[in-house]
Amino acid sequence: MPENKIFYFDNNATTRVAPEVVAAMLPILSEYYGNPSSAYTFGHQVGQFLDDARARVAALVNADPKEIFFTSCGTESDNTALHSALATQPQKRHILTTSVEHAALITHCQWLKKQGVEVTFLPVDSEGRLDPRLLERSIRPDTALVSVMFANNETGVVFPIAEIAAICRAKGVLFHTDAVQTPGKIKLDVRELGVDFLSLSAHKLHAPKGVGMLYVRRRTKFQPYIMGGHQERGRRGGTENVASIVGFGKAAELAMEHIDDENTRVRALRDHLEATILKTIRYTRVNGNTVSRLPNTTNIAFDFVEAEAILMLFDQAGICASSGSACTTGSLDPSHVLVAMGISPMQARGSVRFSLGVYNTAEEVDYLINKLPDIIARLRAMSPLNPLHPENKSQNLEALRAGPMGVRSESGT
Ligand SMILES: Cc1ncc(COP(=O)(O)O)c(C=O)c1O
Repeated sequence: MPENKIFYFDNNATTRVAPEVVAAMLPILSEYYGNPSSAYTFGHQVGQFLDDARARVAALVNADPKEIFFTSCGTESDNTALHSALATQPQKRHILTTSVEHAALITHCQWLKKQGVEVTFLPVDSEGRLDPRLLERSIRPDTALVSVMFANNETGVVFPIAEIAAICRAKGVLFHTDAVQTPGKIKLDVRELGVDFLSLSAHKLHAPKGVGMLYVRRRTKFQPYIMGGHQERGRRGGTENVASIVGFGKAAELAMEHIDDENTRVRALRDHLEATILKTIRYTRVNGNTVSRLPNTTNIAFDFVEAEAILMLFDQAGICASSGSACTTGSLDPSHVLVAMGISPMQARGSVRFSLGVYNTAEEVDYLINKLPDIIARLRAMSPLNPLHPENKSQNLEALRAGPMGVRSESGT
């Protein structure tokens, strides 16, 4: 392998920009620099690129292009859905969501709570699953919005979005899903799903950072979050990031082509990685349900080591993976997702997420598989958390591992 090669297993954090996407963007950056809102032909030409991209992104989720508008990121899309649902229904002051959402939603909800909005964060079970019946019982007459992510960014667990949307529809409550982790992995069809709002972020599907989109079902009352000019048919002020939006359009097209590869080859690579780790490294298990799960993600708990230490040694070997989500990396708190699943803080701190993508190869996975046992063995030998360590003989192994178990491995070395 070349000396400075990057072994990238962090595709849920962000993805490499596809060469086709770069090629689609270049003319906008170099030639078509006009403002799409300008009245002259040069502006209209740029507006045409915008329309094409909108049609492509709409096709990715089977929406009408008029039902989607571009934002600056997935976070803005999530914030906008919350804001609009509350602003258009001032008599309703309750939000129903889950305890495992991305910070893009949770942080806004926490702020809303301080403003007097009531927020219910539904629990998940030990495998990270949500009970739709509990969700149904928790909807109140004053619920302005139910918001449930499509797939969890840390564990990959996929939620039953069509079923939840049907419950919300029957109760007459607006429903938003943060589908940021799904394009190219799960087929998205807003009509079949029956959602009112759906958020995406371009940088998760091989397009640049700093652009997202929000789908708003036709005839849904809407109040903009970013108020300004008449861009995006008055739904989002601010001159559009045209080059990145064009890249998003191209990436949307590629994502539809990638679905097969993600669900066959990438899934097989992920399964091979996971099975080999469980087989060859003792005291490891998978966090989260392994049946209803994204094909590219595995979140593995390594007992008696700190994930941050693993990631440091990974870094020295050119391997990129993460603990928790990229947005919370650096915080010493254990992942709120794993804690919500009842996993002990100590185990949560030893958990690493590997998220693969269409650019990963079998050779890269083998490199990771070869490096990992040594890294874990080195860290465990030094770890004060390790009850097998000579200095820690008195510690109780089971007590240290208290908390619900996922798929678990006791074998191997
Ligand atoms: C599930 C989920 N929602 C929202 C976001 C935020 O997207 P962005 O980085 O575009 O703001 C992310 C990014 O990690 C995510 O994984």
